[in-house]
Amino acid sequence: MREVKTVLVVGAGTMGHGIAEVAALAGYTVYLADISSDILRGALEKIRWSLGKLYSKGAVREPPDRVMERIHTVVNLSPSGDFTSGFREVLGSVDFVIEAVPEKLELKQRLFEFMDSHTAGDVVLATNTSSLPITEIASATKLPERVVGMHFFNPPPLMPLVEVIRGEATSDDTVDATVKLARSMGKEPVIVKRDVPGFIVNRVLARILNEACWTVARGEASVIEVDSAVKYRLGFPMGLFELADYSGIDVFYYVFDAMTRRGFKAHPCPLFREKFEAGLLGVKAGRGFYEYPGPGRHVRPSIPKEAGSKLNPVYLIAPGVNEAAYLVREGIAERDDVDKATRLGLGLPKGILRYADEYGVDTIVDALRKLHEKTGWEEYAPDPLLESMVREGRLGVKAGRGFYEYSGVEERRYDTLLVRLEPPLAWIVLNRPERLNAISPRMLDELTRVLDELEDDDRVRVVLVTGAGRAFSAGADVSEFTSLTPVKAMVYSRRFQEVLFKLEYYTRPVIAVLNGYTLGGGLELAMAADFRIASEGAMLGQPEINLGIIPGAGGTQRLPRLIGRSRAKELIYTGDMIPAKEAEALGLVDRVVPAGQLEQEARQFALKLAEKPPLALMAAKYSIQAGVEASIWSGMMLESSLFGLLFSTKDAAEGVSAFLEKRRPRFRGV
Ligand code: COA
Repeated sequence: MREVKTVLVVGAGTMGHGIAEVAALAGYTVYLADISSDILRGALEKIRWSLGKLYSKGAVREPPDRVMERIHTVVNLSPSGDFTSGFREVLGSVDFVIEAVPEKLELKQRLFEFMDSHTAGDVVLATNTSSLPITEIASATKLPERVVGMHFFNPPPLMPLVEVIRGEATSDDTVDATVKLARSMGKEPVIVKRDVPGFIVNRVLARILNEACWTVARGEASVIEVDSAVKYRLGFPMGLFELADYSGIDVFYYVFDAMTRRGFKAHPCPLFREKFEAGLLGVKAGRGFYEYPGPGRHVRPSIPKEAGSKLNPVYLIAPGVNEAAYLVREGIAERDDVDKATRLGLGLPKGILRYADEYGVDTIVDALRKLHEKTGWEEYAPDPLLESMVREGRLGVKAGRGFYEYSGVEERRYDTLLVRLEPPLAWIVLNRPERLNAISPRMLDELTRVLDELEDDDRVRVVLVTGAGRAFSAGADVSEFTSLTPVKAMVYSRRFQEVLFKLEYYTRPVIAVLNGYTLGGGLELAMAADFRIASEGAMLGQPEINLGIIPGAGGTQRLPRLIGRSRAKELIYTGDMIPAKEAEALGLVDRVVPAGQLEQEARQFALKLAEKPPLALMAAKYSIQAGVEASIWSGMMLESSLFGLLFSTKDAAEGVSAFLEKRRPRFRGV
């Protein structure tokens, strides 16, 4: 295909004018065509406004006037509905065409037929369609090999993703030229090798959004609960219903409707149709799934963080993963492109297949099977790729391989502990299940050693401690108490305390993952961690009083600091065990989750922390830990000193520049 200097954008609506702006910004001479000069004038005004905004923010260096000089307009239809001679002339001089007219097949076909006969044969004819088959549009031309999909996202100047879609006849050269053009516009193209309805982003989004909607329609959760889970547990930039309202419920309605009509197998959730038919289209109508102060007046709905705590987000993401797996298995898109598309097109913090690896491919498959059983719907049947991954043990991060390879995953066995390295995480598993992980002097030694080893391992950013079997730990090993003299008991208590100090002042965040009984020394260990996440079935307590003794590993000190004196006294004086939920109400555990979700919840939370700057985490930890024990003056001084010290780190420079450049920071711990 020819070298591109001049780009023609046909259609000056929402997408067309944005695409023209992007092309002009990239230095191309741009022709923008539409059916009337009024529309074109309006489009130019919008482009000028947008350029002004980008310029004033410093995102663009070239003054708007200079960019505007490169944009020319042309009316393409005469009042009688014929293509104008002006349009024909422009077609004779352009090197690349991007069509963005309304989504009507006949309209596009007529346009492509005309463009095909009035452009040179080495000019790419791209369509920005999101719902029509490229092949059918191309069928109106004599050279279908130069017709390609080039799907931008709204608004084009801000959204970096472009899906490049191959029709049946599209040539490699055409795809290459389109990818090259997208790159030269500063965009990140992904290739969709087969013209499937919805391409990558809309297919995955349709699955997730539809599932979210069904969760509400089935009465399992409210709109706010789903959005809270999506935002705070999956880390999406906004809730799914919030997104639907923001983009317009009609937009999704039309796109999904077109997809299902083209054979995308789904049971569309009725709530979307209801909202659509009632005219409750979201922000623009002043009401959709949420209420707004008035039509077009956007305020972000308030979505509390706790609202989503009872929902298992795996069920929301699993149908999206299933779709992504289908795309990969069918060779429609490469793994990396699927992840890039979901990251950039949906604003996800990581690609959908990375989510699958982190949650565990087996966990995803289980969720799909349950949905399949519940509904009998074919689209929930786990994709054969996922099934084979489970069979082959490619379960994701925990197995060291899934959709991606994870180097450094290994298990180290000690007498009483099991260490599972899963960079950037390390799990320390208390491993004497037959004794309910009772803590022996040997275990304390090994814990010290393991903590030292992990401290020297730069890959490890967060440490999790949990127990094998049905207990986290039922406490110090009582059978060893029989041989203790008073002095030895005191020395033992001091040793235990020292290990826990090591944990409390560990250079990495430590999360105690309470899978069952968390008693006595077990609870004391958990209290030295930064966070405690418990499974519903966990029982917590300080039962020492029943043995005629008191807690000896910090229980009388850390417990009152965590939950207050009288409540601590009650637990210690009575020796009562309390269930996790009650412990949560007391502030003794931070979060309670169903047993089956404990590991996955803890891992997600740990991975979130692992992305933060390690030195700043350490400084925050020390400032808080040492600060609460000091006078406020000393605490403040410590805080200022650490605050200042962090300005000597590369990570602080990275964090600040990433913010200013509007990108995700990459912290390296230096
Ligand atoms: N030290 C040594 N062994 C312990 C232990 C501890 N702290 N906690 C449990 N075990 C052992 C039990 O002796 C038993 O061993 P066995 O099979 O050889 O008899 C095994 O772990 C399983 O415990 P069991 O008592 O049979 O389980 P359970 O479900 O009936 O009860 C507990 C669980 C946690 C309520 C009960 O084991 C208990 O009260 N443990 C002691 C808790 C304690 O006082 N901790 C404070 C120590 S400072």
